[in-house]
Amino acid sequence: MLDRINNLLAEISAASLKSHEELESFRLKFLSKKGLISDLFEEFRNVSAADKKEIGQKLNLLKQSASEKYNLLKAGLQIISKTSYSMDLTRPSFPWNLGSRHPISIIRNEIIEIFERIGFTVSEGPEIENDDHVFTKLNFAPEHPARDMQDTFYISRISPEDSNPGDILLRTHTSSVQVRVMQSQKPPIRTISPGRVFRNEAISARAHCIFHQVEGLYIDENVSFADLKQTLLFFAREMYGKKTEIRLRPSYFPFTEPSAEMDVNCTICGGKGCNVCKYTGWLEVLGCGMVHPAVLESCNIDSKKYTGFAFGMGIERPAMLKYQVNDLRLYFENDIRFLEQFKTAF
Ligand code: DAH
Repeated sequence: MLDRINNLLAEISAASLKSHEELESFRLKFLSKKGLISDLFEEFRNVSAADKKEIGQKLNLLKQSASEKYNLLKAGLQIISKTSYSMDLTRPSFPWNLGSRHPISIIRNEIIEIFERIGFTVSEGPEIENDDHVFTKLNFAPEHPARDMQDTFYISRISPEDSNPGDILLRTHTSSVQVRVMQSQKPPIRTISPGRVFRNEAISARAHCIFHQVEGLYIDENVSFADLKQTLLFFAREMYGKKTEIRLRPSYFPFTEPSAEMDVNCTICGGKGCNVCKYTGWLEVLGCGMVHPAVLESCNIDSKKYTGFAFGMGIERPAMLKYQVNDLRLYFENDIRFLEQFKTAF
């Protein structure tokens, strides 16, 4: 009997297991009422008085080792089941890479934030538009070259030869949102509209068929060109630094009269002249002007009572200047090595 007990002790101490089923078999084999240890206690009754002490002690040791081992194995299984997450397919992959904002979003948010501080709200419109919102109501003549297939991506044209207000196209500028706002709101209107625009251009380091703009619109009684200039000066100094100077050059847009383009003094060379500003000391940043009375009227706003200014700027160019990105295509490739460089911005 002693030999059998010793063999069982060795078996128990060597036992190892991987599953709850194996644990249960261990319990049934050694610890249950019909298990081997119970049987031995049964036999123990018949052991001679001379051997009782030695065998009794060994038997108690066997029982104790079996239940200790059982607890140990059970705890081990619990740890394994808690840490073995290789099978949990819902867990995120490791290592967790924190994303970052796209540089275009960073600059867009900066522009929005500056105008929000002076009471502008944000309006949005669809990227798939009709000719009416993108051209006709903005005073583009029927034969205006911007409507040409060379510039505009058409989705459907009512007549192949002539443009029609019902033609469906990808918006070529965010000025279309101006029209939507004027049609649905009454002055005073003070809003900016960030968004993605599309033009049929060959893709290069300096041009892309997809880019982003922010449009601005302010309509109220007695809004003057001086208000436009002061608003843009405020914006330029917030965006490009307190010492920034602006200049307005006469220009032409069908939807504004008078129209202008705004330059800021080159922040890279401080106005001395460099290859970024093409040795002029100035960088062109936006187009602007007083909303044309015909545009107000086409959107049912009384042009005798109300005046307004509008402006529109690209986002890619200031982002290129700020981050010294020399190829526009980088913004659209989503190469993680490029995007990771903006982690510290927000
Ligand atoms: N829509 C013009 C463009 O895409 C930008 C622009 C110029 C917007 C003058 C305006 C504006 O609102 O007044 O080039």
